[in-house]
Amino acid sequence: MGNGIAHVFAMNEIPVKLVDTNQELLDKAMQTIEKNLDRMVEKNKIETSHKVKTMDNISPGVDLEKAVEDVDLVVEAVPENYDLKEKIFQQLDEAAPDSAILASNTSSISISKLADATWRPKQVIGMHFFNPVPVMKLVEIVRGYETSDEVYQAVEDTARILDKTPVPVEDYPGFVSNRVLMPMINEAIFAVYEGVATPENVDSVMKLGMAHPMGPLRLADFIGLDVCLDILNVLYDGFKDPKYRPCPLLVKMVNAGKLGDKTGEGFFKHD
Ligand code: CAA
Repeated sequence: MGNGIAHVFAMNEIPVKLVDTNQELLDKAMQTIEKNLDRMVEKNKIETSHKVKTMDNISPGVDLEKAVEDVDLVVEAVPENYDLKEKIFQQLDEAAPDSAILASNTSSISISKLADATWRPKQVIGMHFFNPVPVMKLVEIVRGYETSDEVYQAVEDTARILDKTPVPVEDYPGFVSNRVLMPMINEAIFAVYEGVATPENVDSVMKLGMAHPMGPLRLADFIGLDVCLDILNVLYDGFKDPKYRPCPLLVKMVNAGKLGDKTGEGFFKHD
């Protein structure tokens, strides 16, 4: 999601340093941003000059410490793995200015726990975007145990500058978005597992009967089946409630490397 987050900041005149682990991934991210901006130009949503300015506002790089040495806000969007995020937050805490806010785009990991990995827990917060980031209006803003009111307000104001609608939520497993979304996706997978209907038919029911823009299984492929499994495990472990147990079919597909759009196959095949 990092490229989408960089896209919306840069498009709203905020200079962005986009960091990834290697040049190849950065090149791919910049190509994706350019492609999505081109689509906006084609649909007359922005002028070509706005696209050029947006691209100019993004400086890609692989050196995280150097990139954050003079920033006001960091939005971390690494994979949903607590140990990895903890390491990144410790690095950010060392390298970013004392005044900087450290935000995470995590979909389910505890903000209070990430904050506890730093010396600035009052300045740690969740800034949870939704895919595709340039299109979806919501930013779920997650207040950790110690997040200060000033930091909350600054991040809410920033979300509005990005033309998004901020919604405050407290730091409990899955926040609101995934606490509601993931049980629906998991239940859709159980329906396939138990032979109630095919993936196509499960999705047709939810698209045609409930006016969802994508069926839950198409959406699971879009999000990534590994990400869905990670989030369900956070809900299951966090609440100790069997209603969140991941469907064995989801576990089996993730074990087989069928992760959805990113691997070309999940519940559906993708180009
Ligand atoms: N960048 C910029 N614009 C984009 C875009 C992108 N990456 N992707 C799509 N668009 C624009 C298109 O240009 C189009 O604009 P117009 O309406 O002005 O023509 C519009 O979005 C719709 O796109 P399409 O016509 O190509 O396709 P669609 O109508 O099928 O919509 C969709 C695609 C917006 C993805 C829609 O299917 C949708 O809303 N799906 C649900 C997405 C969703 O639920 N996301 C949340 C996932 S959960 C998450 O992200 C977080 C988590 O914690 C797991």
